[in-house]
Amino acid sequence: MSEIAALQALEILDSRGNPTLAVTVTLANGVAATAKVPSGASTGKREAVELRDGDKSRYGGKGVLKAKGYVEGEIQRAIRGFDANYQKGLDKRLCELDGTPNKGRLGANAILGVSLAVAHAAAKDRGLPLYAALVDEPANLLPTPGLNVLNGGKHADSNVDFQEFMISPVGAPSFSEALRASAETFHALQTVLHKRGYGTGVGDEGGFAPQLKSNEEPVELILEAIQKAGYKPGKDIVIMLDPAASEFFDEGAYVFAKSDKSRKSSAEMVGLYKSWLGKYPEIWSLEDGIAEDDHEGWQAITKELGDQIQLVGDDNFVTNPDIFRQGIEDGIANAILIKLNQIGTVTETLDCIEMARANGYGAIISHRSGETDDASIADLAVAAGMGQIKTGSACRGERIAKYNRLLEIERELGSKARYAGISAYERRKKAMKA
Ligand code: PGA
Ligand code: ZN
Repeated sequence: MSEIAALQALEILDSRGNPTLAVTVTLANGVAATAKVPSGASTGKREAVELRDGDKSRYGGKGVLKAKGYVEGEIQRAIRGFDANYQKGLDKRLCELDGTPNKGRLGANAILGVSLAVAHAAAKDRGLPLYAALVDEPANLLPTPGLNVLNGGKHADSNVDFQEFMISPVGAPSFSEALRASAETFHALQTVLHKRGYGTGVGDEGGFAPQLKSNEEPVELILEAIQKAGYKPGKDIVIMLDPAASEFFDEGAYVFAKSDKSRKSSAEMVGLYKSWLGKYPEIWSLEDGIAEDDHEGWQAITKELGDQIQLVGDDNFVTNPDIFRQGIEDGIANAILIKLNQIGTVTETLDCIEMARANGYGAIISHRSGETDDASIADLAVAAGMGQIKTGSACRGERIAKYNRLLEIERELGSKARYAGISAYERRKKAMKA
């Protein structure tokens, strides 16, 4: 009775007003569930392919009617009658049906929509919340969030080259208190910006996106906001960065085109981060500080800073188990960013998380800059038990949907709920030094 009976897809809009897919699966017993697919802007080159129609007369070519057609046609025919509880088998079938290494034929958006909707339907069918259904062991660890309170790079029309400046409330006693501290700090940051006459409009991920004097100024402003909100920087709240350096890497140099127009070599970038760490010990995590094509730079930064801070690979690993395995062998980074739509199936995503755990790497479950109200990643983060999530600022409905879902999970787990917070943070710090 848990067999898949029907698939339906709908072309909906994401948080940037671009088309994306909502996929609904109905099982033979009438149980139905829907998943909505996110979309990135600063994408890694080796991400699975997001299938767009290319028909310039609709949404500037960004329509997803072809992907919708595949879901309701070829994919539906291939998986009708399949047991929804056998996620691994289903995802393998989807990959084989596509037949390309990067899901370029049917589209990772079509495939992920189906894979994730089936995961939801199977959980519902078993009477379990998604976070409990995705894994065999009981999941009770609420992740520490990284909230992107200041947006730059490709996510904002500002003069800041670095993409993300995040606050992470490691010192809070529970997830709900962590979220409160974060929202209070976000509001304090608004006051700090106002006072200086800076704009407080927000970027794609709900962080402020003001015109500033340098890529470094956001760190100063955030430290001031943390204090203003009544918290201790470096103790209650730490800072995480995602420069998304692939976006400003040009012919072997890092070019700060949005701010001071300077060009930096790979070694100079490592030097820059090192100097920041000296000045701002509150920074504990650096994602994509080096570009995906700068392999030597990645090795150098891992050697130089890998025992001091979390170095997160996003554009270079693209949540791909094969690529990630190679990266581990090459001694690159000490953590991975996990995005379902970079790889396109639930199973391969879980495989990456397992690989991180087995190799002592951190894993951060992540949203995309283009999102919907789908909150699956909140459940995924609890299921993964890796203690970290990044899903935007304390602002914008599509970001808040994930945080609110985590609040629900925390309530549902009751006395069993644990917040990753300080213990997970200190354990990771110790592991990096070892
Ligand atoms: P994206 O950005 O969703 O636009 O790729 C997120 C990130 O770089 O982490
Ligand atoms: Zn990133």
